[in-house]
Amino acid sequence: MAPGLDFVDLQSLSVAVHHCRLCPLGHSRTKAVPGVGAATARIMIVGEAPGQNEDQQGEPFVGAAGKLLDQLLKGIGLSRPDVFITNILKCRPPGNRDPLPLEVQACSPYLDHQQKLIQPEVILLLGRHALARLLPGYDSISRLHGKVIVKDGVTYIPIYHPAAALYNSFLMGPLEQDFKAVKAHLDRMEERRRATAVAAMPAAKPEEQLTLFG
Ligand code: URA
Repeated sequence: MAPGLDFVDLQSLSVAVHHCRLCPLGHSRTKAVPGVGAATARIMIVGEAPGQNEDQQGEPFVGAAGKLLDQLLKGIGLSRPDVFITNILKCRPPGNRDPLPLEVQACSPYLDHQQKLIQPEVILLLGRHALARLLPGYDSISRLHGKVIVKDGVTYIPIYHPAAALYNSFLMGPLEQDFKAVKAHLDRMEERRRATAVAAMPAAKPEEQLTLFG
């Protein structure tokens, strides 16, 4: 981890990203895009890198892929306030080319700290670059999409990137299925939470049982 990079909250991390010059993208960007959402979000979404619209507005997923993402989230009963959205790179690679290893490495402390500060219950990995960054050495996105993977106590679900589905319409169905898998996982977690809460409720005392039954 780069020396001196430690953050007490998302706000100080965001300020650091806006001043970051750890790689050449810090000089070519229009605006840095640290990420948006609450520190209390239970779901974290990790994309690849800002595109042209994001670079201009300083927010992740505000272009066509973002609109599709919003639609897919809505389909499973979620909206932006329910999630924290960010990317593996906080600055736009020129011409939307793939992230370079040096850029991924330089930017990695920011994503690591966001994950530590938010401690999400589940992290959605959008596309192959997010998958390779957070689950290095794992299988390809085409094999792992829609699967729940637990590593070091953190739960991940890799899914196809919405931009990939916009370019290749045959991926739209699988992407919708991936979101159904996300919903099924969230429902399971909710169910478990309820069961734990019920189990933790104190049993009624005998005199209360008497009042209850007559
Ligand atoms: N694609 C990404 O991966 N991230 C964005 O913020 C926008 C498009």
